[in-house]
Amino acid sequence: MHKKTLTLCENYVKMKYTCAMKIPSLQEAERLLAEAEYANPGPWVSHSRNVATAARLVAVHHPRLDPEASFILGLLHDIGRREGVTHLRHQIDGYNFLMGLGYQDAARISLTHGFPIPELNVYNGNHDCSSAELTFLEEFLASVAYNEYDRLIQLCDAIALPAGFCLMEKRMVDVALRYGINDLTLRGWEARFQIKSEIETVIGRSIYQVLPGIVEGTFGVSLDR
Ligand SMILES: [Fe+2]
Repeated sequence: MHKKTLTLCENYVKMKYTCAMKIPSLQEAERLLAEAEYANPGPWVSHSRNVATAARLVAVHHPRLDPEASFILGLLHDIGRREGVTHLRHQIDGYNFLMGLGYQDAARISLTHGFPIPELNVYNGNHDCSSAELTFLEEFLASVAYNEYDRLIQLCDAIALPAGFCLMEKRMVDVALRYGINDLTLRGWEARFQIKSEIETVIGRSIYQVLPGIVEGTFGVSLDR
């Protein structure tokens, strides 16, 4: 009885917060992603779908995260790639695009997902933005207080390859091999491990227990005999 009541309360908290969030409907988010894929097709779309699925699967076990809102935020976190093949620029483009549609909570995820610590240089790829945009981003990071949706998508972005889910360490090395490392890389990795640990404490299990195909995604083979 107590467990049932607690679950209803938790669902009420999730619903109340989610209703206040400025995000598109699931149908609209799917439409925006399909439109973006048409403009700039690439593996980033499958990656986005996997981030969304991971976010929903984790949120199902979380008392304060709404699974559908989590899925929508995952779908749209890289939507700035609709503008073409870019680097840091995709975060600014995604923010501007979603802000223009009035989806402020999805827009902030466009900016926060690449910064497990709020420092511009933890992003080691090309800073292909204007100086005004870099100043905006620095000021945003200096003032932001990450919420649980920011943390969720930062985590899921680090375990989702285009082909499926994998051990976080594999994805980190994959990114490091493509873009190199700098003096903030290890702090960024530590922050992602910390996020993983905090979320696992809340959901009471390993994230790898809720994501299908981790072994295949990490090792490229099935270990079933
Ligand atoms: Fe991503």
